Amino acid sequence: MCLEKTILITGASSGIGKSVTKQLAEQGHKVIMLCRNKEKSEKVIKEIDSKNAELLLCDLADFDDVKRAAKEFKNKYSKLDVLVNNAGSVFADRKTNKQGYELTFSVNHLGHFLLTNELLDIITERVINVSSYAHKFGKINFEDINLENSYNSLKAYSQSKLVNILFTYELARRNKKITVNCLDPGFVKTNVGENDKNSYISYIMKIIRLFSKSPEKGAETIVYLATSKDVENITGKYFCNKKIKKSSKKSYDLKVAKKLWDLSEEMIKNYKP
Ligand SMILES: NC(=O)c1ccc[n+]([C@@H]2O[C@H](COP(=O)([O-])OP(=O)(O)OC[C@H]3O[C@@H](n4cnc5c(N)ncnc54)[C@H](OP(=O)(O)O)[C@@H]3O)[C@@H](O)[C@H]2O)c1
Repeated sequence: MCLEKTILITGASSGIGKSVTKQLAEQGHKVIMLCRNKEKSEKVIKEIDSKNAELLLCDLADFDDVKRAAKEFKNKYSKLDVLVNNAGSVFADRKTNKQGYELTFSVNHLGHFLLTNELLDIITERVINVSSYAHKFGKINFEDINLENSYNSLKAYSQSKLVNILFTYELARRNKKITVNCLDPGFVKTNVGENDKNSYISYIMKIIRLFSKSPEKGAETIVYLATSKDVENITGKYFCNKKIKKSSKKSYDLKVAKKLWDLSEEMIKNYKP
């Protein structure tokens, strides 16, 4: 028998997140899809055709909106069993959010960092952060975290995916009441990199897509981490294909993780609404 969980997943309007939502809803879990595009997400809900999936509108790049969405969630639900931080973006040219922070860092990390911290007191079981193999090329540019002086899309994306892992390990060290893990879904045929057509990153993604798996396959490790009893006591790990793997050497740096946490807190606190 499947014990129904309440699961919130970001970026459920397409790709991996959409497949995860479908699989979890079919298993009987209540899935709250945190998405920014109403029309697109409502189409997905229709397609999934399950009373278990519902929409929570939110733009992760807008910190006021993240706070509002967390509050709206808490008004409706007294607990959240599993949070899946899945949404991700990459941009050919440097863009910023309302607060002037670089957009990849804002969406892929800061929005999720804020969302997680706003919901932490009602999370009962698991936090799952979707990273990528690309983290291995990442470097945390503390001297220029917003990449004002040296932007390129791969640098921004790989930095954000390394940050996802450092955040996972740090949260796992700070909070022993829940489990916190991250994963690389592998190469998956999705829209990632398609924001800016004809860009360098979109050409790379076109080639990668030739060797990629389906979103259904790409969803498997997330569904496993969200529901399996095998991992209910495992925390602070990086998974690929449902197996624990070693992440890059840089991702285990305790000093960097602490510094990143403090910086993220400061960036979230000091933003001007
Ligand atoms: N595909 C791969 O090969 C691959 C490999 C490694 C890791 N990943 C990771 O897997 C995760 C899912 O990506 P995907 O491949 O499924 O790509 P995708 O199809 O492009 O999905 C990305 C999702 O993130 C959402 N999103 C983007 N910006 C947002 C914002 N500001 N606020 C709220 N939601 C936002 C998108 O919403 P919209 O529909 O509104 O754009 C979409 O639902 C990402 O974290 C990515 O880094 C993917």
